[in-house]
Parts: sequence; structure tokens; C-alpha cells
Amino acid sequence: DKGTYPFYMLKEVDEQPNVMRKLAQTYLSEHGEPQIDDKLIKAMQAADRLYIIGAGTSYHAGLVGKRLFERLAHIPTEVHVSSEFAYEQPMLADKPFFIFLTQSGETADSREVLVNVNDAGYPSLTITNVQNSTLSREASYTLLLHAGPEIAVASTKAYTAQIALEAILAKALGEVNGQIVAQNFNIRQQLGLVATGMQAIVDEKAKIEDLANNYLMKSNRAFYIGRGIDHAVSLEAALKLKEISYVQAEGFASGELKHGTIALIEKDTPVIGFITQAKTAGLTRSNLQETMARGAKTMTIVREGLAIDGDTLVLPDVDEMLMPLLTVVPAQLLAYYTSLNKGLDVDKPRNLAKSVTVE
Ligand code: M6R
Repeated sequence: DKGTYPFYMLKEVDEQPNVMRKLAQTYLSEHGEPQIDDKLIKAMQAADRLYIIGAGTSYHAGLVGKRLFERLAHIPTEVHVSSEFAYEQPMLADKPFFIFLTQSGETADSREVLVNVNDAGYPSLTITNVQNSTLSREASYTLLLHAGPEIAVASTKAYTAQIALEAILAKALGEVNGQIVAQNFNIRQQLGLVATGMQAIVDEKAKIEDLANNYLMKSNRAFYIGRGIDHAVSLEAALKLKEISYVQAEGFASGELKHGTIALIEKDTPVIGFITQAKTAGLTRSNLQETMARGAKTMTIVREGLAIDGDTLVLPDVDEMLMPLLTVVPAQLLAYYTSLNKGLDVDKPRNLAKSVTVE
């Protein structure tokens, strides 16, 4: 039931702070230590490489997960689009471990990969929101997202739940692997900060709606740019905008723009830059300048610690690794308000189904 909300999507965006708290309660001890099935951790420890498989938004959550597993657990991680992997399997490591990210647990493209993985006898984990779903039943292990039903076609809280759970899992694995970064990573405190930070962002809806009206209503295309983990979020931000507001949007590695795509920038093309990583903040700022010099209408979405005068939206600071959990929220809301104010059916965009059960 969507209560007083006009659309499920907005309700689900608003639920994200609680989803973060629920995951912390479910998967962390009183002292903030991850509590994950020992057998699962042992199976992952035995692997020499992780393969994350997903489609759409779940694939995008995997791109963030790769950074978490590599930085916290120090294990090489690849991320693949399921429909590609199923028919063009890359060369595998000696001891692969597969992680399936799927909100519904029913995505046919991802299931096709799992069938092959099971035939080959490789261990697997499904991270899903739906207990007893097909991918949950068929994988060796399951972790549930506990995000509550996600009804809107545009996935929101499942994305942030997947990232938070990947962080908990990466922390658990990193600790048993003796990784200092993992030991020093206070996941409970960080998820608490994330929940508070998300709340502060969803409380700024009026401002974000104005930005949607000013930047995105009048253009039929837009670019989201960033580097590293910000690039990963830019892909998700663009997907949200495309699927519900029908604006042709592209998520782009900001340094790559000048290698061709900048030719598309003309007067008033919206370019939204994500700046949350200290190492690359200056570089992304100059890439934004390059687009501005060609007439783009630029917006910055920046982490507080890196903010300068004139930034458009300043997000609370959490650990850089977890910034995607915050960066994505204004992007979800920008897409929501663009769709809403165009009078579109936010929850049921044309041509799309909530779960894609055909290959
Ligand atoms: O249920 P899944 O997570 O496996 O679904 C994967 C995609 O179909 C899904 O994320 C889709 O891209 C969403 N509509 C994005 O908002």
C-alpha cells in the first residue's frame, strides 16, 4: 500500500534510511561485527576471484561492490552483465565464486548464468530481496536484502540495500583475511551515518524538484559524469532518468568525454557531475569546466568535504567507499520529479516490466 504517496517510487526512495538500519540490525552484532554464515565466508575465502553477475540496476550495484570487495577484502572481483556473460563467458580464474545480485530473484538472464555455474560445479551466492525466489533456491547460499517489497519498476531501495550488504560482506571477508582496511572500517557507524545522510537528502525534496525542473524538463538528453566509483553511480543515475522520464541520458567516465562525446555538448545540455572522491575531485571539476565552456548547463553533486562555493548540492560526508549510497539518492529524486512533472506514470514506465523473465 502506498499510503499517502502518489507513487510507490517516492515511498521506496524515502524508505532507504530504514533499509540501512534494518540491514545493520540483521547482519551486525551488538558490537557492530558482521554476522554472516561461516560456511559462506569459508567458501568465499577459498576463491581466488569473485564474479558479480547482474542486470540493470543490480549490475550497477555490482560495479560498486567490486570496489568494496577489492578494497576491503583484497580479492580480485569482476562484474558482468548477465545477458552477456551467459553466452560469452570470459576465461575464469581457477577458483571462481559467483555472486548474483537480483532484487526479484527471477531475472531470466541472470538465471541462465546460474544454470551454467551450477553445471560447472562452482559455488555461488544470491543476494536478493525475495525469499525462495528462483535464483535464491538454485544458488549455494542466499543473503536477503530485507528491503521490503519493491513495487515501482524503477529500482531504488534494492540498489542501496545491495551496496550496503556487499559492504558488510566485504568487511566480514576482509577481517577473516586479516585486512587492516577491513578491521579499521567501522561499518556500523558508517551505516548509521549513511542512514542519517539519506534522511537529510530526502528531506530536501523541494530543492531537488526545482533542480529537476530547471535542468531536466526542457532537454531531451543529459549526461551524468564522474570518475571511479562516481562513474559507477553515474550509470545508475542515467538509467533512472532514461527509464522513467524518457530523457536520453548517459553515464560517463568524465575523463573520457574529451575523447569524442564532448562533441554532443551544445548550449544548455545538462551535465551533472558527481564529485565524492578526493583523488579525482579536481579532475572531474576540470572536465565539467570543459563542458561549461561549450555551453553545457552544469550541476555538481558533491561530498561536503570536497565542496566549494557554488556547488549545487552538497551531500553529507561518509566514508568515500560508501558515498554511492548517498550520491544515488538525489539522482533517484531528479528522475522521479522529471517523470512526475512530465505527467508520466512514474511507477509503470512504458515498455518495461518489474521483473524480466525472458532472455
Ligand atoms: O530483479 P533484478 O534485480 O534481477 O532486476 C534487474 C533489472 O531488470 C532491474 O534492475 C531494472 O534494470 C530496473 N528496472 C532498473 O530500475
